[in-house]
Amino acid sequence: MAYFAMSSYAEFAPFYDAINGEPFDRIRQILGFIESYNPEAQSVLELGCGTGAILAGLGSGFSLTGIDLSSEMLAYARRRCPEATLIEADMTSLHLGSCFDVVICVFDTLNHVTDFDAWKEVFHGVNNHLNDGGIFIFDVNTIDRLNQLGDMAPWVHDFDDNTLIMNVDFDGISMSSWHIRVFEKQEDGRFVLHHETISELGVALDEIRQALTPDFALLKETDLKGNRPTDASGRALFVWRRNSKETYAGG
Ligand SMILES: C[S@@+](CC[C@H](N)C(=O)[O-])C[C@H]1O[C@@H](n2cnc3c(N)ncnc32)[C@H](O)[C@@H]1O
Repeated sequence: MAYFAMSSYAEFAPFYDAINGEPFDRIRQILGFIESYNPEAQSVLELGCGTGAILAGLGSGFSLTGIDLSSEMLAYARRRCPEATLIEADMTSLHLGSCFDVVICVFDTLNHVTDFDAWKEVFHGVNNHLNDGGIFIFDVNTIDRLNQLGDMAPWVHDFDDNTLIMNVDFDGISMSSWHIRVFEKQEDGRFVLHHETISELGVALDEIRQALTPDFALLKETDLKGNRPTDASGRALFVWRRNSKETYAGG
């Protein structure tokens, strides 16, 4: 059955950067991987680029392209990173008609795809959009992490004059629902509630490795402590190189 990606982040977009802060560590890590595994890289495609914080941080040394399902997130990305080519598109059906040296998909963005067959479509699309020698960098929240988040008390965070309350439900198997409420303070002192629920799917790491293995070679995998990630790690980060093949001919 065809997978239909649901756009979200319409309510959350105006607050996203203030809540998450600048992703300096992630940017440093991505630049380090590019330097180690594809130092001649000139072009980067980010899947699920959100507000463009990562693209903006990668700097002017690359030609930058970002895609995202959310027009609201892309509106912020256009302001933050005007030099990037930004396209409203679904990463589970990529047809950009061009190839890149590096594809990245970070900050749990892959988990937002809630059907593992559709993850395989993402991998297929990445394979079709990487140049020879190109690398694919992505991270995921593990099932264990989603499970732990489901057990936690709601996260309450004051920022600017506003308050975020976020709680995560976990279905006990693999699916989590992130309930995000932002109470935005108005000039008259009253609050407006912005509410959005975002889903994340957890997938066993071996299933991810197996799905990539026919077309990609693993270059690096790490958890947050620099060890080989397991399903008990909070987050897993991977770098894969596309296996050599004939040049992409569109589609
Ligand atoms: C957690 S945010 C990460 C944004 C950015 N990568 C960062 O690191 O700040 C996830 C983003 O993925 C986008 N997204 C979710 N599913 C998508 C899909 N199927 N295709 C394209 N973008 C998607 C969302 O709209 C959102 O902007």
